[in-house]
Amino acid sequence: MTEHLIIDGNKAAASDGQTFDVYDPSSGDALATVAKATKIDVDRAVNAAHNALESNAWGGAPPAERGRVMIRIAQTLRDRAEELATLESRDNGKPLKQARTDVHVAARYFEFFAGIADKIMGNTIPLGPGFLDYTVREPIGVSAQIIPWNYPIQIGARGVAPAIAAGCTVVLKPAEDAPMTALRLGEIALDCGLPPGVVNVLPGMGPEAGAALASHPGINQLTFTGSVEVGIAVAKMAADNVVPVVMELGGKSPNIVFADADLDTTATGVANAIFQNAGQTCSAGSRLLVERKAHDALVARLTERAKQMRVGPGVTDPDMGPIISKKQLEAVESYVRIGEKEGALVAAGGSRPSDASLAKGYFFQPTLLDRVSPEMRVAQEEIFGPVLAIITFDDLEEAVAIANRSQYGLVAGVWTRDINKAMVIASKVRTGQVYINTYGAGGGVELPFGGYKKSGYGREKGLDSLASYTQIKNVCVRFA
Ligand code: NAI
Ligand code: MG
Repeated sequence: MTEHLIIDGNKAAASDGQTFDVYDPSSGDALATVAKATKIDVDRAVNAAHNALESNAWGGAPPAERGRVMIRIAQTLRDRAEELATLESRDNGKPLKQARTDVHVAARYFEFFAGIADKIMGNTIPLGPGFLDYTVREPIGVSAQIIPWNYPIQIGARGVAPAIAAGCTVVLKPAEDAPMTALRLGEIALDCGLPPGVVNVLPGMGPEAGAALASHPGINQLTFTGSVEVGIAVAKMAADNVVPVVMELGGKSPNIVFADADLDTTATGVANAIFQNAGQTCSAGSRLLVERKAHDALVARLTERAKQMRVGPGVTDPDMGPIISKKQLEAVESYVRIGEKEGALVAAGGSRPSDASLAKGYFFQPTLLDRVSPEMRVAQEEIFGPVLAIITFDDLEEAVAIANRSQYGLVAGVWTRDINKAMVIASKVRTGQVYINTYGAGGGVELPFGGYKKSGYGREKGLDSLASYTQIKNVCVRFA
């Protein structure tokens, strides 16, 4: 069966008829054949999005009606959760229960932003007698969205929902490694009454379809999630057309643990933060900064948890699934070897599992790298796998300095019973989100999310994300 592009409400083959294969990373078996969008297809999709915008069928609809359509999308995602979660699990490899959560989070995005569609308000600005000055927040236009393979349905919904709530139209390019649920999302949106052309979905290769989309003069805004390298390239393409971008580029987020923390709860939080989705999460807590006094007790607990984790095919609902591809698996493996050469100690995992039944998939064991120092490559570079770098600190100032000694700044976690320590850390870390005695917030749909430094700019999720999808028009009236 071949999956098609979605352009202007229709399923279409690529302009040149080409396709690519998508693989199940748990087995290496082919999962589907998917139409591979060309530059011509990108042009067609951007034109469709532009025409849908101009027709005003969506942006000009009563805001409450836009909200109702979005509620239907949320409900349909929930009704089809099992099917979508299974597909996501096969496509990406993640455990079924994590894929179920992803589908529910995707539904939450549509609910959350459905409720906002009729609350996108402007201001009045006092200019004195005889004047009325007001602002209107208009849709920014055609939003191009390039998303990665790690959370396809979640990240797809995270960009599409606020964009369409604001009255924009969208061209979505999913990642070549996991495009399936983004296509389903596009189909569901149409089935629920979204007018044709409002959401177009173009699976394809980054350098071809992705680059054609980012450099297209017909787009008005670009949302990108992926690597720093590609993010920079894509932002430059958009800059040529003065197109604003939102960049979400990953991180090396620290979990900072003080000796007074409840170490059992902390160990669970720290392990989830790195091993969820096999560490392939932009906001993964990939550095553990632990106060020297608590090091041994916490690492013992983490080692115990890492060893107990069941690694296996996503659809068997293990604790951890495979890495997305052979290439990513090899990258993760090579980082562990680099860490060892740099003097780190493998305290758990460190290699592929020995279980022969897993040999065809891209599995790696949950891995703890102990005795890491802050300047090592494994402490500085994003590994994007289930590998935790463990660094020791002696006092709060040192913890802050190590946490901030990073080119990234996406998320930080603090674990302590001392409110003063927690608040000082929260004020001093240079990251877009801080969690105290927790990490993540079940999807965090409501919370603004985005980076400091090379983790990117602009904010997704929450009300703040609307800034990306609206533009402010000021109207000044003289009536004296
Ligand atoms: P990538 O940055 O190459 O891919 C992300 C998206 O960009 C995909 O849809 C891809 O097709 C597209 N893309 C690739 N090249 C492009 C180009 N020249 N023009 C326009 N679009 C292009 O990420 P990749 O190769 O999958 O993973 C490499 C590393 O990136 C990972 O190891 C990880 O460190 C980081 N990454 C971070 C993510 C995050 O959530 N922040 C997600 C995925 C990867
Ligand atoms: Mg790439």
